[in-house]
Amino acid sequence: MRFRVWTRQAILFMGLVTALWISIALPVVAQEVNEPRFDQEGNLLRPEVGYREWVYVGTPLTPNDMNGGKAPFPEFHSVYIRPSDWAHYKKTGTFRDGTMLVKELISVGSKVATSGQGYFMGEFIGLEATIKSAKRFPNEPGNWAYFSFTPEGSPMMSQEWKPHGGPFKDKSPAFPTAACAACHQAAAAEDMVFTQYYPVLRAAKPKK
Ligand code: HEC
Repeated sequence: MRFRVWTRQAILFMGLVTALWISIALPVVAQEVNEPRFDQEGNLLRPEVGYREWVYVGTPLTPNDMNGGKAPFPEFHSVYIRPSDWAHYKKTGTFRDGTMLVKELISVGSKVATSGQGYFMGEFIGLEATIKSAKRFPNEPGNWAYFSFTPEGSPMMSQEWKPHGGPFKDKSPAFPTAACAACHQAAAAEDMVFTQYYPVLRAAKPKK
């Protein structure tokens, strides 16, 4: 009988160790999913599709047919902010150091639905991101750097086109200031972010 008591205790102990491990490891894993990952050359690795579970802030739309057949960023732009950065924005109305926003480009799939004529989302065709970091980007305006994983020639309706996530680039360098940041600096409403087009952020901003 001694043996059985020992086994029971051993099982109990293993159970406790597992529970402890899970409670420590799980938050770390959850955090890593949302942390931007860089390679040694400073390229941002393509974020996991987990960003679709971040906080959604708005969807600007620049359809190709209103932009001479080829919008610079075609067509729907679904913009997401990291949950921890959202919490900070909601509290302070500012984008904290480390803030990351992702903009996913989605084609216009159909222009008619039972609800009427319009623009309806098609396939994922591009992915952009911006990160504010004083440590990594001390010389960029507002410390924001801009990245693109959108393949050349997107919207990709070629043979290679794979809906739901490919063939995006695996990594992106921080783009030159003139290529992205300059326009954001000149035209965005708030700390280089286009909050004028994100009703969710405007509604969340604390009233003075
Ligand atoms: C000519 C102006 C202009 C340039 C150049 C530009 N953007 Fe933007 N960007 C915008 C506008 C306007 C929005 C918001 C509305 C929209 O998405 O169309 C935006 C929104 C974004 C967002 C969503 C977060 C935010 O800041 O509002 C990301 C990410 C982004 N751009 C990435 C890029 C990248 C990467 C480049 C360079 C390759 C770039 N942008 C170049 C005008 C510009």
